[in-house]
Amino acid sequence: MDKRILGKDLAVSAVGLGCMGFSHAYGTATEKNEATRLIRGAVEMGYTFFDTAECYVGRFADGTPSNNEELVGEALRPFRDHVVIATKFGVRLETDKIVPPVSDSRPRVIRESAEGSLKRLGVDRIDLYYQHRIDPNVPPEEVAVVMADLMKEGKIRYWGVSEADETYLRRAHVVCPVTAIQNRYSMMARYHESLFSVLEELNIGFVAYSPMANGFLSGKYGQDSTFEPITDYRSVMPQYSSEGIERNQKLLEMLQNIAQKKDATPAQISLAWMLCKKPWIVPIPGSSKADRIEENFRAGEIILTKDEVDELDKELESIPMSEVFGGTKREKPSEN
Ligand SMILES: NC(=O)c1ccc[n+]([C@@H]2O[C@H](COP(=O)([O-])OP(=O)(O)OC[C@H]3O[C@@H](n4cnc5c(N)ncnc54)[C@H](OP(=O)(O)O)[C@@H]3O)[C@@H](O)[C@H]2O)c1
Repeated sequence: MDKRILGKDLAVSAVGLGCMGFSHAYGTATEKNEATRLIRGAVEMGYTFFDTAECYVGRFADGTPSNNEELVGEALRPFRDHVVIATKFGVRLETDKIVPPVSDSRPRVIRESAEGSLKRLGVDRIDLYYQHRIDPNVPPEEVAVVMADLMKEGKIRYWGVSEADETYLRRAHVVCPVTAIQNRYSMMARYHESLFSVLEELNIGFVAYSPMANGFLSGKYGQDSTFEPITDYRSVMPQYSSEGIERNQKLLEMLQNIAQKKDATPAQISLAWMLCKKPWIVPIPGSSKADRIEENFRAGEIILTKDEVDELDKELESIPMSEVFGGTKREKPSEN
């Protein structure tokens, strides 16, 4: 399986595994043994890149808390030297509510978070440490200095920024080189393509979160799909509303047609489209099902030519589309 390089030299599998949904935002947390089996199964398939965050917490069916970092760290312990574990600091969320995240990247808070993540993951070094959201009260230079110090102390290997913008990236990168951004990116949310030239210039990778528009682009959901209220964010996502589903039928049909031509699935096409755009884009789809984890991984084997990608882009510009969680395809989101 294809490897990709983020930044100067961080090698990861072309498709990474987003682990958030095992604990957070997609309903009741996946039972621990099952989640462990799925994560270890992903390693056997060839995934070497795993994504978690300090704030990914939720509840198991019996009401006890599920901590995503603990889960991911324990599941990956036998493979520690062969995998890249990314986690994030700088955001507080409430477990049982869909609320906007609260940003806090004061240096003291980052240091506390780093110590906590190292402990919960059970590792002595975090491979890739992202600032989860920009904190308007803390300048990028100040965050970057903490990152440089944590690197010197051997506590983190690389750092990145989630939901970064150009100005922030440039200012942070001068102080301590940024290896990757992690921004929302899918066929339905393309506004961060405006960052491509900056990423190319600074040699920064793009880790794409919610790459299938929260699963919607798989085409496996319809008017009869139901989601747990409150704990499953899809219950309030515009692409999953009755009107959203109706409005997106043409998009799903288009994906289905290309999938048929390429002997692939719509989910795979939605990932292959971004993989074939730039060699430094790495999607991190999440799933709680082994067959889908494999389906998504194998998107890395599908080749779309430049002409095919351009053609798809053209269609995406003109096809009717609903709003999508986190922002519409053309506008910069106010952010969730
Ligand atoms: N930096 C940030 O602020 C941020 C924000 C959101 C997410 N993330 C990261 O990005 C990762 C991925 O994002 P995401 O989970 O929001 O979105 P996503 O990967 O686009 O979609 C995940 C959803 O799609 C479904 N799914 C996955 N593969 C499928 C397939 N082949 N066919 C049908 N359905 C499929 C999953 O359901 P099943 O489990 O039922 O398969 C899950 O509900 C997260 O795990 C997290 O690590 C980061």
